[in-house]
Amino acid sequence: MPKAHREQWATRSGFLLAAIGSAVGLGNIWRFPYVAYESGGGAFLVPYLIALLTAGIPLLILSYSIGHRFRASPPVALRRLSRPAEAIGWWQVLISFFIAIYYAVIIAWAVRYAGFSIGQQWGAEPGSFFQESFVGITEAGDFGTYNIGVAVPLVAVWVVVLLLLGFGVRRGIEVANKIFMPLLLLLFGALVVRAVTLEGAGTGLEALFAPDWSALADGSVWVAAYGQIFFSLSIGFGIMITYASYLRRKADLTGTALVAGFANSSFELLAGIGVFSALGFMAVQSGVAVQDVAAGGIGLAFVAFPQIISTMPAGDVFGVLFFVSLVVAGLSSLISIVQVVVGAVQDRFGVGRVPAVAVVGGATAVVSIVLFPAGQGLFLLDTIDHWINQYGIALASLVLVVVVAWALRALPSLQRYTDAISSVPLRGWWIAALGVITPVVLGFMMYDSLKAEFSAPYEDYPQWFLNAAGWGVAGGVIVVSVLLTAVLWKRDVGTAEDDLERERQESAAGRAAGEGDV
Ligand code: PHE
Repeated sequence: MPKAHREQWATRSGFLLAAIGSAVGLGNIWRFPYVAYESGGGAFLVPYLIALLTAGIPLLILSYSIGHRFRASPPVALRRLSRPAEAIGWWQVLISFFIAIYYAVIIAWAVRYAGFSIGQQWGAEPGSFFQESFVGITEAGDFGTYNIGVAVPLVAVWVVVLLLLGFGVRRGIEVANKIFMPLLLLLFGALVVRAVTLEGAGTGLEALFAPDWSALADGSVWVAAYGQIFFSLSIGFGIMITYASYLRRKADLTGTALVAGFANSSFELLAGIGVFSALGFMAVQSGVAVQDVAAGGIGLAFVAFPQIISTMPAGDVFGVLFFVSLVVAGLSSLISIVQVVVGAVQDRFGVGRVPAVAVVGGATAVVSIVLFPAGQGLFLLDTIDHWINQYGIALASLVLVVVVAWALRALPSLQRYTDAISSVPLRGWWIAALGVITPVVLGFMMYDSLKAEFSAPYEDYPQWFLNAAGWGVAGGVIVVSVLLTAVLWKRDVGTAEDDLERERQESAAGRAAGEGDV
């Protein structure tokens, strides 16, 4: 049975918006502002921009060009580059699976909190409300009771995601992003306008942007800059390989990467301005320094922001804007990451989209819904997140660049391929950035985080728990990827050219048949 045509984006802006939709996520809103604040403030922009130009955009272009050249999601695309490299593809797929199962929960919390904003239902103590009443926190390793208040929005999130993926690349993902991205800009833009006009906003912005130039001499600040760029641009998850595989033959890869990269960073800066204006307001209201209220991640979104919303006139509106922004930004990222898993199964086993979404997407949803709404969900999320980021995304990217640049020496041919179809020509800097700068920086990051891991147990969680949810998950995905590749070794996937040729013949046959009918 001939495979159906590979799906394609309907428009050029469709791919661009989907790429931006994937990149702009929780990382932009709750991670960037705090990382920048802690790592030199205004001075952080220097290593951050250098990281964007020397690693972020070059890796983005590499992913686009692998996905486009080999026309498949990561396992098949990388296998077409070189057989054993299929394992790196599966590794990215499994990383995406693990991120998806917890990322969805954070979106579900945000859904609930959009509702709680109306009338500030978290009461006077948002911190203990979140931990005790809402999450029903236990201890790491103690499953706790299952929390229906989280499970219901979580099921809703998964229904939306699976429906959109079921509609496909063009009618699902593309349409969703064409609605989500303008909507996000509108909602978040309104939030930022409100935030900068709050009393104390200036104090917050000063705290964020006051440059501490001495930070540039600190290695960990550079690690933070590269780490932020990797996470924020969704590099190393296999998303960009997958999305680029749905591009038509003529596509401006380098131009798109530049636009996507700078759009993502612009949104990040906007988020920094919004978040720190609000934190400045909070500090002034409670008569403390900004450093006493500054936070990132879960603490920012579910503790500090509720406090701010409660203190503010017309806080309801501000709260809804903030949490709905989180939901929209998060959903467009979640779609992209689940598509990696679904697309990989479609391409590798030749199954159709709907069965792949139903079985693989469904299974992902079930794991997420079973594990995370319980009392220990928060610990599980935190631990998997830490390990999958440090020893998943970053390590997989390191292995990928070393294999592509040094073992296969494939950069020059990918460069010629990319230049032949793109607007902005790649020059020697691309090969230097990927062959030298990126591996050196990633290698250093790896060393740095391993050192921290062995000096103290992460967050003081019990060691057995870290062994299972941390090392077990990060190591397990590597083992499973290698096994999958070995099992599938003999199963042929053909070449990208075969696929193209078959599509050409099919559409010619289709045209001939159509004309015969008239
Ligand atoms: N770039 C995303 C963010 O900033 C990272 C991400 C992508 C996370 C896809 C999950 C899924 O949040």
